[in-house]
Amino acid sequence: MTVAAIVPAAGRGERLGLGRPKALAVVGGLALVARAVDALVAGGVEAVVVVAPPGDEDTVRAALGSRRVVVVPGDDDRVGSVAAALDALPADADVVLVHDAARCLCPPEVVSAVIDAVRAGHPAVVPVTAVADTLKRTGAAGEVLATVDRSGLAAVQTPQGFDPPTLRAAHQRARERRAAGGPVLATDDAGLAEDLGVTVVTVPGDPRAFKVTTALDLAMAEALVSAGPA
Ligand code: C5P
Repeated sequence: MTVAAIVPAAGRGERLGLGRPKALAVVGGLALVARAVDALVAGGVEAVVVVAPPGDEDTVRAALGSRRVVVVPGDDDRVGSVAAALDALPADADVVLVHDAARCLCPPEVVSAVIDAVRAGHPAVVPVTAVADTLKRTGAAGEVLATVDRSGLAAVQTPQGFDPPTLRAAHQRARERRAAGGPVLATDDAGLAEDLGVTVVTVPGDPRAFKVTTALDLAMAEALVSAGPA
């Protein structure tokens, strides 16, 4: 039995504005995608499929150096990119994690907590952190419509863990919804599993598993790496 992971790294990184895919941005001398793979392996992942921007597969392979990973081309959005990796998973995988390349500093303990929860029998698992900011619902002109009670809210990170049939069924359902012209709102894979009626359980996440989205996030990642292990 194998713990496998899919690393969607096919985003173009437009919000980061580096003029190249975000997963290839470098922090402390290593590409985000390479750091993300290393974090997964340190947490117990045995086989990794990285999803590259179509046409950039060789550049992504080069950034991964000697790491033993399968690289496949991605799709127009994150859901499609994850789906593109499903066929490349090892046949004997009993746990599949999906982990954003952009969450490159995720501590191994988060990875292993997700794996343990799936192995304990939960078909879908997400790491979460508390929401620190006050949250408000706003209208079209930016006006405040309401203050949202944050006590029942959590911020969701990756890696998200699944038993393989659940992840496959979730993506099959998303494909069907799309084909029927329906909305596929999920910005994460657990959202697709929820759509199947699967109960998603949570494990503690970690602030270091933040997603590198902006130049400020990249500077923060660089500072954390130069400060050394926390
Ligand atoms: O854009 P965002 O930061 O939400 O993307 C999250 C992750 O999904 C990133 O690691 C990005 O590379 C990946 N992604 C992808 N294929 C896309 C869009 C995003 O693999 N078409």
